[in-house]
Amino acid sequence: MEHTDFIAKDSPNIQVVESLDGLLAPSFGPVVNAYVYPRRLTHDFNALARSVAKILEPEGVVHNLDYDELISLQNKLPSASEQAALDFIIKDVDALLDLHKPGHSRVRCRAVLPWGADRQMDLPGTERFHADGEFTDPYFENILCNYAGKPTDYIAHADALPDPQKEGYFVAAPGADIHQFSLGSFWRIATQNIDATVKPLIHRAPHIVVPEQPRLLLTLVRSNRALWPSHSF
Ligand SMILES: [Fe+2]
Repeated sequence: MEHTDFIAKDSPNIQVVESLDGLLAPSFGPVVNAYVYPRRLTHDFNALARSVAKILEPEGVVHNLDYDELISLQNKLPSASEQAALDFIIKDVDALLDLHKPGHSRVRCRAVLPWGADRQMDLPGTERFHADGEFTDPYFENILCNYAGKPTDYIAHADALPDPQKEGYFVAAPGADIHQFSLGSFWRIATQNIDATVKPLIHRAPHIVVPEQPRLLLTLVRSNRALWPSHSF
């Protein structure tokens, strides 16, 4: 079993599993709103993220690369070690897609570049504590894997207070512990629409500014219905 010390102590809502099958198969509830498959990374994903950031160029922008865009990076990377890191991500994507019926999942590799110091913009929703999804959306849930940069933050539900600046979002209660997903681990998290009896996992993207390390993560949205054209990844 990989290390799991990044998981908050006394968190009955978070359950550790030992395989991708184990991650995807179980249902959420009655208290479990997150499954974690811990892994440790060996390739240099930070170097890969920096190269991807250079290829994509603009600062402070979230780039969502689909499968073809991810593949197209293969011949643009300057080193074999970055190539190996990219191949690792592509293998993850392939493994996840293999475990879903066509049209039942949509996968993106997300590159998050640091904000320029001069950028004056309101925090985007992703950087405020939130639950994914809308009550009006069809059933879906999310799977995340952080590869480079600061990983996703999360807080216990009891520590989530309504954000006075933005309706529908949360702030951490004073003194609350803010936890992080670990790099390399897969997290499968409950969203708002799954089941009113299961609370969604409250999380946010960390705010990063130049010259911090760009982030690289995989996001997979999955449904129990065919929500996407079967050719879309
Ligand atoms: Fe989110």
